[in-house]
Amino acid sequence: MRIAVVFYSETGHTLSVAELIQAALKAGGHEAVLHRLVAVGTAHPGAKDVKFESLPDLTGYDRIIFGAPVQAFSLCPAMDAYLVSAPSMVGKRAVLFMTEGFPYPWMGGNRAIAKMEGLLRSKGAQTKKAGVVNWMRTDRPRLIEKVVASVAEAAVS
Ligand SMILES: Cc1cc2nc3c(=O)[nH]c(=O)nc-3n(C[C@H](O)[C@H](O)[C@H](O)COP(=O)(O)O)c2cc1C
Repeated sequence: MRIAVVFYSETGHTLSVAELIQAALKAGGHEAVLHRLVAVGTAHPGAKDVKFESLPDLTGYDRIIFGAPVQAFSLCPAMDAYLVSAPSMVGKRAVLFMTEGFPYPWMGGNRAIAKMEGLLRSKGAQTKKAGVVNWMRTDRPRLIEKVVASVAEAAVS
């Protein structure tokens, strides 16, 4: 399968998980391409009218994985802005993951991934939430492994 991983990452956590997802998909014989969203200027909570250096062309992918960090207890403004202005995703199958500083998903991760799911569904995508990586957890490596496996499995099913 041909799979895109579209993600925003400010401090590198979501990037590192996206790279592990890419490696897992490639190990399974799939083509996996990373598309990092890079904002022009600040995209911190409160930022208005977020723009991007470039926008990914998502035509021709069998699946699209979306990953983003929690910011201010919700979906980061960059991914929010990207999805609000994204073209129709009717017929696309999307798999979602988040990274979050705090140790439990109920501290913002669940809300953020639900927001991402709502935006994708409003564009017509079929969605599957694969999980949240909580960065402050002492068992983070195990959690990353679990979320990476869950994303990869959902993406190829
Ligand atoms: C501006 C900003 C706001 C944040 N707000 C939250 C928050 O409300 N709750 C939380 O758990 N983590 C918060 N974090 C931490 C990030 O969610 C966490 O470190 C995430 O893994 C960062 O991903 P990234 O390195 O890909 O940007 C915030 C980080 C930044 C930079």
